[in-house]
Amino acid sequence: MRIEVFELEREQSTWENLVKYNLAESGVQPMRVGDLLLDDLREERLGYPQTNGSVKLRKRISNLYPGADVDQVMVTNGTAEANYVSVWNLVEPQDEVVMMLPNYMQIWGIARSLGAEVKPWSLQQVDGRWAPDLEELEGLISDRTRLIALCNPNNPTGAVLTQDEMGAICKLAGRVGAWILSDEVYQGAELSGQTTPSFYGRYDRLLVNCGLSKAYGLPGLRIGWTVGPPEKIAQLWSYKDYTTIGPGILSDRLARAALEPTRRQKILERTREIIRSQLPIIQDWAKQHGELFSMIPPRAGAIVYLKYDLAVNSSVLCRRVRDEKSVLIVPGDHFGMDHFVRIGYGGEPDTLRKGLSLFSEVLESAT
Ligand SMILES: Cc1ncc(COP(=O)(O)O)c(C=O)c1O
Repeated sequence: MRIEVFELEREQSTWENLVKYNLAESGVQPMRVGDLLLDDLREERLGYPQTNGSVKLRKRISNLYPGADVDQVMVTNGTAEANYVSVWNLVEPQDEVVMMLPNYMQIWGIARSLGAEVKPWSLQQVDGRWAPDLEELEGLISDRTRLIALCNPNNPTGAVLTQDEMGAICKLAGRVGAWILSDEVYQGAELSGQTTPSFYGRYDRLLVNCGLSKAYGLPGLRIGWTVGPPEKIAQLWSYKDYTTIGPGILSDRLARAALEPTRRQKILERTREIIRSQLPIIQDWAKQHGELFSMIPPRAGAIVYLKYDLAVNSSVLCRRVRDEKSVLIVPGDHFGMDHFVRIGYGGEPDTLRKGLSLFSEVLESAT
């Protein structure tokens, strides 16, 4: 099996701990262990965990999806493992996968490595929002479509689908019996405070993948999950025997604490407070550049996706900013779209301000 380079992750993994100003992160400032620390954690034995996640953790997760039971949940090492195992299980060579773009390109790379044909399906800028082109989707699906992969709220645009759009997508998937994989890792990080509705419960052949890395500010726990029909979840668990076996036991315990309903609310409020107070920093900064940037403000997530009007390739621009100013931002090229940059605004405000002002210096010399 040959796998293409996952550009965004390779670049971030290589540089995020070396640069001074990391504006490539798509989550908020991570929480501290002390925010979750439990007195009895000292007594926890460092044995193997229940490999699909403890029943208590799966119960807390299943409670987030009305009608779901613990046997419909598999806990994974991050949303990344949930995505990996799901696609590995679902997709065979010669299958077609339709994937919402722009998007986090993990599913793209895995499906292609498995020999599937991956067809891009675009979000379009319509009436001040990023909207799915449903006619395009209709034209893309066929009897060979095994999977429709989408990300809602979306990385990198921060767009959120309407309930009508979600219904239409399910209907189209149902026509050809395709699975839907809905990556909902940014759910809970809405600027409006209105939780993005899940695809869960709208369609039978559905996997919802999610995790604690973004809206919860807990990426270091590496806890994610898949929710789906019990038979499919049982199958996925047997695939997971070949990947990481189970989550770390401390992560399982801390995730359980994070998802205790009152604490969960507080964590999500913290995230929303950060993104609400910091979005204006980047909006004001973009405005100072006049016509250079255009942006549809995100509905959710700690990232903005900015289109820039300069005759320079996005990877070239971001490399300059990184090498000359020690600022990491993500080029639109990593989402298959040149002349865009993705900037994370959920980190420390001072880092954000300083990183942006250094980016401005590069822009001035590039115009
Ligand atoms: C849409 C999406 N899915 C999955 C992941 C991976 O998340 P995790 O850290 O939970 O593995 C990311 C990370 O940026 C993401 O943006």
